[in-house]
Amino acid sequence: MTTTNPSPTGAPAGRAAPVRYPFPWTPPMEIPEVLRALRERAVVRVTLPSGDTALLVTRYVDVRSLFADHRLSRNIARPGVARISADNELFVDPNIDPDPPAHTRVRGLVTKAFTARRVEKLRPMAQRIADDLLDAMAEGPRPADLNEAYAFPLPIKVICILLGVPPEDMVTFRRLVDGFLSVTKLPPEEVGVCRRDLWKYLGDLIEAKRTSPGGDLISELIRVRDEDDNRLNEHELRFWVQGLLIAGYVTTASQIGAGTAVLLHRRDLLEQIKADLSLVPTAVEELLRTQIMGSSIGTMRYAVADIELSDGTVIPAGSSVLLSEESANVDEAVFPEPFTLDIRRTENHHMTFGAGLHYCVGAALARMELQVATETLLRRFPGIHLTVDGATLPRALGGFMEGFTQIPVDW
Ligand code: HEM
Repeated sequence: MTTTNPSPTGAPAGRAAPVRYPFPWTPPMEIPEVLRALRERAVVRVTLPSGDTALLVTRYVDVRSLFADHRLSRNIARPGVARISADNELFVDPNIDPDPPAHTRVRGLVTKAFTARRVEKLRPMAQRIADDLLDAMAEGPRPADLNEAYAFPLPIKVICILLGVPPEDMVTFRRLVDGFLSVTKLPPEEVGVCRRDLWKYLGDLIEAKRTSPGGDLISELIRVRDEDDNRLNEHELRFWVQGLLIAGYVTTASQIGAGTAVLLHRRDLLEQIKADLSLVPTAVEELLRTQIMGSSIGTMRYAVADIELSDGTVIPAGSSVLLSEESANVDEAVFPEPFTLDIRRTENHHMTFGAGLHYCVGAALARMELQVATETLLRRFPGIHLTVDGATLPRALGGFMEGFTQIPVDW
C-alpha cells in the first residue's frame, strides 16, 4: 500500500520519511514526547506494525470533523487498505457493512441500552462489585497486582451481567479476546485459533440464550433479530455481541489500571483527590485525555474521495487514514497547557471516545465505572501506593491495548 504525502497547497508533496506507529511511550508515565511537535503538519505519514503506510491526522479540528465525515469509510475489508498487523486481520469483516445507513440501523438497537440514564441505574451494581473486589484484595497476598485484583475483573463482571454472559466463562473469553486483539504479540496461527474459537463461543452462547432467554442485552437483541431479519441479521447479531463483549471491558480495564497507576505515581495529585473526592469526575476525564491506554490504530478508515483539511492539505482518495485521538487531545489550539495533567480541568472535550458516526457506544458506562473504581479504591485504601518506581512499570506492547502489564500495590 502506498500513499502520497499531501502538502498544505493541496498538491501531493515530497515524501517525508514515515514515522513508526504506534508511537513509543517515552517517558512511560507521561504524555509521549513525540506528540509535542506532531501538529506542525496536519497529516503525518506513518508505518504500521504490518509495514504498510497510512496517513495520520493530527489536529483536533480535523480529527473531530473527520470522525463525522461520510467520505471516510470504515469498511477496510477492501483491496489496497493498509493492514494494521501482518499477523491479524484486525477490524476486518467482509460480511459487515460498517458505514451508514446499515451501520446506523444496527447501532441504534444497541445505543438504547447505554444511555446516560440507563447507565446511572447500574451504578449501585458497579459499586457492589468494586466493594467485593476490594474486600477480596484486602484478604489476599500483598503486594497485589491491581490489574488482576481490580482493574480487569470490575468491567468484566459489569459487562458479563449486562450481556448475560456466565461469569465462569470469564477466563476462557479473556484468553480468546487477548489473541483476537494481538497486533504482533502472537503468531498468525494462534491468532487464527483464538478468532475461530471466540466466534464459535459467541455462536454457542447465542443459541443457549435463544433456548432460554433472560433479561439481558443479548436476549433482547435475539428477540429483535428473530422478529425481523431486516433489522438485524444473524451475522450482525454475533458481530455486535462480539464487539460489545470486547470493547466493553478491555478499554475500560486498561484505563482503570493505567489511570490509577499514574495517580499513584503522582502523589501530589493523589493527595488532592483524597482530600476532596468531588474531584474524581474531572480527574477521570483528565486521565482519559492524557493517558490513552492504547494508540488510535482502531480508527483505521479509507478515503472514498479527496478530502480537504482545515489548512488546505488534501487527503487523496484511496488513502488509508488514522484519526489521532492522542494528538488531538494535546492540541494547544483547544487545550490550555495540554501537557499538564490538570485534575480540575473543566472544559475537557477530549477525543478518547471518538466522535460522530462511531462515537463510543459505552462512553457513559466507561465513565461511570472509572469514577466508581477510582473513588472506591481511594476511600477504602487511603494509604495505597506502588511498591516499585512507577517510571519502571512495563507497558503491554504488541496488543491493541498498551496499559501496564502489572501494577504492584500495597496499602
Ligand atoms: C475507557 C473506555 C473506552 C474507550 C477509551 C473507548 C473508545 C472508543 C472509541 C475511540 C471508539 C470509536 C472508534 C472509531 O471511531 O473507529 C469506540 C467505539 C465503540 N465502543 Fe468504546 N471505548 C471504551 C469503552 C467502551 C465500553 C464500556 C463499551 C461497551 C459497552 C464500548 C463499546 C463500543 C462500541 C460497540 C463501539 C463501536 C461503535 C460504532 O462503531 O458505532 N466501549 N470506543
